[in-house]
Amino acid sequence: MTLEHLVQNWTVRKPLAHSRHGVVASQNRIAAAAGAKVLAGGGNAVDAAAATSFALAAVEPWNCGLGGVGFMLIYLAREKRVQVVDFGPISPRKLNPADYPLTGGFTTDLFTWPTVKDDRNVHGPLAFAVPGHVDGIGLALERFGTRTFSEMLQPAIDLAERVSAFAPVPDSRVFLTSGGSDSIDTATKMARRYWQLVGQPERTVFVNRQHAYHGMHLGGTSLAGIQANVAGHGPLVGDVVTVPWDDADALRRAIERTGPGRVAAFFCEPIIGAGGVFAPPEGYLQAARKACRDLGVLFVADEVITGFGRAGAWFASDRWDLEPDIITCAKGITSGYLPMGAVVASPRVAETFFSPGAGVWRHGYTYAGHATVAAAAIANLDIMERERLPGRALDLERRLADALAPLANHALVEEVRAGTGVIAAVQLSVERLKEPGLAPAVIAACREAGIMTRALATGALQVSPSLVIDEAGLSELAEGIRAGLDACV
Ligand SMILES: Cc1ncc(COP(=O)(O)O)c(C=O)c1O
Repeated sequence: MTLEHLVQNWTVRKPLAHSRHGVVASQNRIAAAAGAKVLAGGGNAVDAAAATSFALAAVEPWNCGLGGVGFMLIYLAREKRVQVVDFGPISPRKLNPADYPLTGGFTTDLFTWPTVKDDRNVHGPLAFAVPGHVDGIGLALERFGTRTFSEMLQPAIDLAERVSAFAPVPDSRVFLTSGGSDSIDTATKMARRYWQLVGQPERTVFVNRQHAYHGMHLGGTSLAGIQANVAGHGPLVGDVVTVPWDDADALRRAIERTGPGRVAAFFCEPIIGAGGVFAPPEGYLQAARKACRDLGVLFVADEVITGFGRAGAWFASDRWDLEPDIITCAKGITSGYLPMGAVVASPRVAETFFSPGAGVWRHGYTYAGHATVAAAAIANLDIMERERLPGRALDLERRLADALAPLANHALVEEVRAGTGVIAAVQLSVERLKEPGLAPAVIAACREAGIMTRALATGALQVSPSLVIDEAGLSELAEGIRAGLDACV
């Protein structure tokens, strides 16, 4: 194994510590600093890597296989080769580097680990030390310590390609944003800009649905079907027509009444979320899609909640064969660990923006496609794919509904809405909701019982468990909500 081999196949993305005497890498910053100290004190690379490895065993023993210290790689600058030193009780004795060629892949559990061909993985932490020869430090910093601008962009490009590959319409293009509200406002501008570019600038009207929630920016607030969210801000975006949430004929009539040549886009959550959790009535989404197609209106699927598995498919649009012109998404793309959103534009829309004379679309956000967040999103999607979470969600939706169903008989409950997607609502009694303090009291009591929930617009308790919840978790969820309700009867 040579350094070249390492560099080609494996990028060190571990905390680095360096002094003018050398560079040390480990998955833990404290451990890396320990090795750097040895180099600074005149120790050689072997000593430094050993110090790193032992320090790691102290701070993260769970990574060190039975308390051993695993293996480490030492770059011998003078000889320009990497030496593997085996310390661990688990890793094979007399380890020959040639038997363990690195594949360039990573495992993505708690930390990234290099993978070894044929899965003959070497247990133990990685400590990597480069002694302080000028060429050693220079090479290491050049290879590992700097990033070019194009390298910085690479995670965003990779993520966009990845999301495009999941998209219901082939060859879709992806516009990264910083969250769901960004995605919605981007979609409103994208839709209007599209119509300008294709020579129909009079198409400016947006159609939304009762109960709709499309985020908190100005565009999204204007599109809200939850009146409480619209009120109190003075005039918002004009040109919004609201239709019933469950009637595709009413949508068609509203578009015709407005004048089909006036409507830019219809915004539609496949499963209404914050507005109360309302699953689409049988056939509704397909009929609404058809009305938009017949009348030339862009269909925007707001999949901020349903995107990335929660509706039992990568996109709810797949589940109901919607082939939207535009999809907005966020949350699930990183499983919420870091802020990121995306707008997926089908070729019909996207290509217009690249047509001759279209010019630059003057729209974008500082943090859109942030490299760290994009890398986290990719790691998240890797895990979701490996664990087949969208498929699991499809199975989970029924089990979630079964777990919550008995709550429907509770004195404080009007109905339980569940069974489509891993999302549900426990609707509090309409009569009892006339008591103003009821919903906050139930939420506080649920919290006492270990369950976090919130009241949706209709006075329903929102339930959105993680896609990996198990039977015990489902029982705990239902029992906790029951305990919260019991406390408030
Ligand atoms: C359907 C829908 N659209 C848009 C948004 C706004 O997303 P964000 O809160 O990330 O801005 C949300 C947030 O819950 C949502 O549920």
